[in-house]
Parts: sequence; structure tokens; C-alpha cells
Amino acid sequence: MLTRRRLAALAGATALALSLAAPAVAQDKIIIKFSHVVAPDTPKGKGAAKFEELAEAYTKGAVDVQVYPNSQLYKDKEEMEALQLGAVQMLAPSLAKFGPLGLQHFEVFDLPFLFTDYAALRKVTQGEVGKMLLSKLETKGITGLAYWDNGFKIMSANSPLKKTDDFLGLKMRIQSSKVIAAYMNQLGAVPQVMAFSEVYQALQTGVVDGTENPPSNMYTQKMNEVQKHATVSNHGYLGYAVIVNKQFWDGLPKDVRAGLEKAMAEATDYANGIAKDENDKALDAMKASGTTQFYTLSDDERAQWAKTLAPVYDKMSGRIGKDTIAAVKGAMGM
Ligand code: LMR
Repeated sequence: MLTRRRLAALAGATALALSLAAPAVAQDKIIIKFSHVVAPDTPKGKGAAKFEELAEAYTKGAVDVQVYPNSQLYKDKEEMEALQLGAVQMLAPSLAKFGPLGLQHFEVFDLPFLFTDYAALRKVTQGEVGKMLLSKLETKGITGLAYWDNGFKIMSANSPLKKTDDFLGLKMRIQSSKVIAAYMNQLGAVPQVMAFSEVYQALQTGVVDGTENPPSNMYTQKMNEVQKHATVSNHGYLGYAVIVNKQFWDGLPKDVRAGLEKAMAEATDYANGIAKDENDKALDAMKASGTTQFYTLSDDERAQWAKTLAPVYDKMSGRIGKDTIAAVKGAMGM
């Protein structure tokens, strides 16, 4: 059977054969392959499509942006390698996925109950601290262009998750962040790192019992069809760094890069502008579909969860860096 990767490789070979035969004008285009792992109908998927449209317009067709959603080209870990190798030019991985590259300071965004809302987050991501965090990517051959929001995460499983004790012994799929692993351990759950593209099947077959994600990811991957219970806990944030291969970016003609920067600034405003609404709509749609029973934590229950998870801050401060945690809190006036 042909795997997705093999198909992608074959598609690449066919494209190469065609491009060799194509007229010069088509060959002159600068190709930006933008690979991501979520559905087109999500804040990130829509942001990528918006960037494609604006980038092509602002560079007057000099650039051809090709968006590959849903892990069509690469899964989580592979896409990072592909970017560094230059096989793709642009990605928007979640901030929880930079640890394996040695950039664990981004895991500050995974600390439980740190961000109260989007406004608090923006103080970090749209300010000097956000810039400083992105600049650390340069040592890995990567340039960080922007932060895109997804949203606040909910917990799901096939059993109710109202109290922190309800997590005892549950196998929970997580992203590669050690901070997320730490808070799952703190809950008594068994965290299992797994690529996003594999989560639906793992939930369906019982390889894992539950997971966490913002509603838009849960809904567009149909996870609600294989999870009987979900708790709107808003215990953590999921957002993205839009990144490019540094060598590719630095090598672009100045006017082209300026057009792309303008397109990225506008696509960022657009993606961040729709993120909350996309998640609200996804949550409503899942509630309406009736496959999952939703429970919303009261303020007291949230405070109880936060208290249970508080030790994660000390346990992970060495990994994330005390300075980074202080800078993020400082930006939010904490
Ligand atoms: C996940 O793996 O759960 C998310 O990071 C997917 C995504 O990119 O939103």
C-alpha cells in the first residue's frame, strides 16, 4: 500500500517532471510549501489560506504558496525536520512542539491556568517578550514570523472528568511538551505523546482513553464521535509559531520578502481575529451533535484544578527557565 509520504514523494517527482517541461515563466515562481497538521476549517487552516491569497497578491504572483493541511505531507515531528532540511519552507507548529528541537522555553505557553484569556496572551505574543522568544529559533536555522492563536483546551475521555481524581490511570494523548506531560502526571493520568494525525484512531481503538485540545481541533477531527465526555476546563492554551526556513527567508529578494511580511501581518490579524469564534462555534456544534456530554467547570472547580496543578510550575521552572516564566508573567502584569 502507498503511504502518504510515498504518495507525497511521487507527487513531488511528478511535479518536478512537469516543471522541467513547463514554460520558463512558471519556473520563475518562488514556491512556498506551507505544511500543517490540522483541517482547513480551523483558525490555522484559514490563516494559512489567507496568507496564501495575500502573499500571492502582494508579491504580484512572484510567489506561489502551496498549503498542505491535515498532515498530508508530514506529521508533527517530520515537518520540523522537513523545514530544517528545506523540503518545506513554512510551518505553524503548536508552541508545545518545540521542545524536541531544544527550544523548551516555548513550553511556558503550556503552563496550566497561566493565561486567563486571549487579551492576556496577546500582551505576551504581540509584545517584546514574544519577539524575544521567537528570536531563539534562529540558532536552529529557523525564523519565527508570527504567533497565531488557536484557543483554550478542553479535556475529553469516555468517562466524566469533573474532579482531578477522575484522571487517575487514564491514558491521555498529549503533544510532545514536557510541561503537558507534567500536568497529566500531576493529575495521576498516564501521558502518551502521539502525532496529531493519529489521535482519532487511537481514541477510537482505545489505544488512549482521552485527550485535550481546543474545540475546533476536536470537532474538525471528529474526536467528539469517539469521546463520550468532555470538560470545558480552559486549563491551558494552544497557539502556534509561524516559522520559515531561515536560509530560504534570508535569500528572498527584498521586495518579495516585504510583500510576504505584509501578507503575514494581515493573515495574523485575520487568524487571531477568528480564533475565538471558530472555537465557540465548534463547541456549540459538538454540543448540538449529542455524541459527547459536556461539563463546564465552575469557578470553584477551576480553582481546585489549578491548586492541584500548581506544583507543575516549580517542577518545570528549570526546564522552561525561571527568566522566561518571569518575563511572560511580567508582560501580563502579574
Ligand atoms: C495537537 O497536536 O494536538 C495540535 O498541536 C494540533 C495543531 O496543530 O493544532
